[in-house]
Amino acid sequence: MPFYRAVGEIPRKRHTQFRQPDGSLYAEELMGVEGFSSDSALLYHRHLPTAIVEAVAVDEPSTQLAPNHPLKPRHLKTHKLDVASADVVTGRQLLLGNDDVRISYCVADSPSPLYRNAAGDELVYVEEGAARVETVFGTLQVGAGDYVVLPTSTTHRWVPTGDEPVRVLAIEARGHVGPPKRYLSVKGQFLEHAPYCERDLRAPDGPLVVDEAHDEQTKVLVRHRSGCTQYTYAHHPFDVVGWDGCLYPYAFSIHDFEPITGRLHQPPPVHQTFEGPGFVVCSFVPRLFDYHPQSIPAPYNHANVDSDEVLFYVGGDFMSRKGAGIELGSISLHPSGFIHGPQPGSVEASIGKERTDEYAVMVDTFRPLGLGDAALACEDTGYAWTWVGGSTHSNDSTSG
Ligand SMILES: [Fe+2]
Repeated sequence: MPFYRAVGEIPRKRHTQFRQPDGSLYAEELMGVEGFSSDSALLYHRHLPTAIVEAVAVDEPSTQLAPNHPLKPRHLKTHKLDVASADVVTGRQLLLGNDDVRISYCVADSPSPLYRNAAGDELVYVEEGAARVETVFGTLQVGAGDYVVLPTSTTHRWVPTGDEPVRVLAIEARGHVGPPKRYLSVKGQFLEHAPYCERDLRAPDGPLVVDEAHDEQTKVLVRHRSGCTQYTYAHHPFDVVGWDGCLYPYAFSIHDFEPITGRLHQPPPVHQTFEGPGFVVCSFVPRLFDYHPQSIPAPYNHANVDSDEVLFYVGGDFMSRKGAGIELGSISLHPSGFIHGPQPGSVEASIGKERTDEYAVMVDTFRPLGLGDAALACEDTGYAWTWVGGSTHSNDSTSG
């Protein structure tokens, strides 16, 4: 995170005596990235955050990935993956992944276990529903259209709060996720040409301290580089009375992303919202189309030769498009090596259109993506051939 926050009770000077009402010391925890040479947070616990009484190996669901071979564009219909009951952490169904990132879909109606991903940051996009994300830093209320950034090793849990299940796309990085560096000053402030800024980011607004009556041994699921382990802590980890620093979870709504437009078709980087090791994330939002009198709003065919492109269609009237079967909840995968673009007829049909009302989230990865079991289970296998013939639909008007 680029800017400093102080929440709850903290002492005037760091690493000094800070005492609880009973006279005992609060326990400091310095949570820092990149060997404490980058952002950090200093948290004050009522109990030792180190006190575990048990560690048990936990079997993970299948993380098997099949190569995209023969190389094909893919269409995944995620809403076919509905399940009866699940939570946002253990109910993830792996769609796509490589050594840098794993992309899963989840439909959740129950609270998750306490959870910490020690292998990297998580960027979770909420497609539908509402949830309370409870963390050691405090609570975030999130809903449809929110990106939720959870720094590596943030202990948290997801609690659905609406009448409908929560649908999320979970992007698990193997490193740290943040705003594109070109939008930040050398000191980390968002610059004027950035499509969003500090005012658009929502952070936990207060410490979340569990009631003394519920302060008991508590299990936390830890995902780490060699698997999953369940710790049992002597005390509930939500015992932080205050923290400060530049490292904490936050939410950003896609509805607060201000599109960058021009006289001619703008390239994909104008939609970039986040970056992580080996991938970027872009937001396509309602916007005016290009305003040159001879402009063509539909994108040109393009070969993104260094990336696999994943587009998650999350809002707008995709049903009006003909032919490709793209619908809300669809994911298209256009891999490096495949030239893609609008379907036949849609370039001509786009001329004169003034705006688009669609929302989509794009993940471009710099290494090839493999296909998880869930992708193969919900794939529309006819998609690769939809550019042939007299089809008039466009499945890709959002893409640059
Ligand atoms: Fe594209």
